Amino acid sequence: MKPKVLVTREVFDETLDYVGQHGDVEGNQGDVPFDPETLARRLADKDGVICCLTDRIDATLLERCPRLRVAANIAVGYNNIDLAACTARGVMATNTPGVLDDSTADLAWALMLGAARRLTELERRVRAGEWTGWRLKQWLGVDVHHATLGIFGMGRIGQTIARRAAGFEMKVLYHNRTRVASDLEKRLNATYVTKDELLRQSDFVVLQVPYSPETHHLIGAAELKQMKSSAVLINSTRGGVVDDAALVAALKNGVIRGAGLDVFENEPKLNPAFLMLDNVVLAPHVGSSTEATRRAMAMTAAKNLVAALAGGTPPNLLNPEARKR
Ligand code: GLV
Repeated sequence: MKPKVLVTREVFDETLDYVGQHGDVEGNQGDVPFDPETLARRLADKDGVICCLTDRIDATLLERCPRLRVAANIAVGYNNIDLAACTARGVMATNTPGVLDDSTADLAWALMLGAARRLTELERRVRAGEWTGWRLKQWLGVDVHHATLGIFGMGRIGQTIARRAAGFEMKVLYHNRTRVASDLEKRLNATYVTKDELLRQSDFVVLQVPYSPETHHLIGAAELKQMKSSAVLINSTRGGVVDDAALVAALKNGVIRGAGLDVFENEPKLNPAFLMLDNVVLAPHVGSSTEATRRAMAMTAAKNLVAALAGGTPPNLLNPEARKR
């Protein structure tokens, strides 16, 4: 008998076809997210699930899914999955690293350039008919080129962001839980600094750390105060890494110049004060959202799932201990 698989959100046809060759698939091409009760009911008789960051995979859910062997997340971040609970129940959890580094780095750069040159604000002004002619001191932005870029979190995506900085002839600083190898630092032309130094010296602070209890509100009122008043903050990683209420206050009061945000606390219900501010560029969690990358992410998750259900080790297994159970 083929294993039973739930795919919790709409995916590409090729993803469903591939999973369908290996399992009996229940999809959700209507794409209405399952509430926790519906998810638990649908997963109760399943061997595997392809899930997304909109699905919470935790102990309460797993208790009701005795057959489940694998949860394959279509995302590199996996803060929606309780890894310890999965391991305790012998459920393999996987993510999709690698395939989205470039697209996600591009979006961080789009936010950086957009915030520096006020692109979304100015587009609103053009559309509103406010542009009456050229003026020397009109709607001035700040330069990205030759500025200091501070990257918080030097994993794969942080490194990809750093590589792009060479083209803008920027000075690159970074902070990371552990310092990266010196040859990599050299290749990236990046200098390791403390958190405080990074905040104090950077013109652009880009956050690229995963969300966890340790990184919750990594940037709050105190950290924003440490930044230059001319600096721009970019959050393209996860809501919750920034204290959004503190950021709103900092943007309103000129504590920092601007921000570019792709992720929010309690998204999609973002803090309404952001909508009233001109000095923030807002994007709807689309860091990896290009056609090619989203296809690659979905297929990566599918391959992880199929490998696990076939009794193998999925390429992107997050909790190898789960296999031993
Ligand atoms: C998207 O946010 C991801 O973690 O892949």
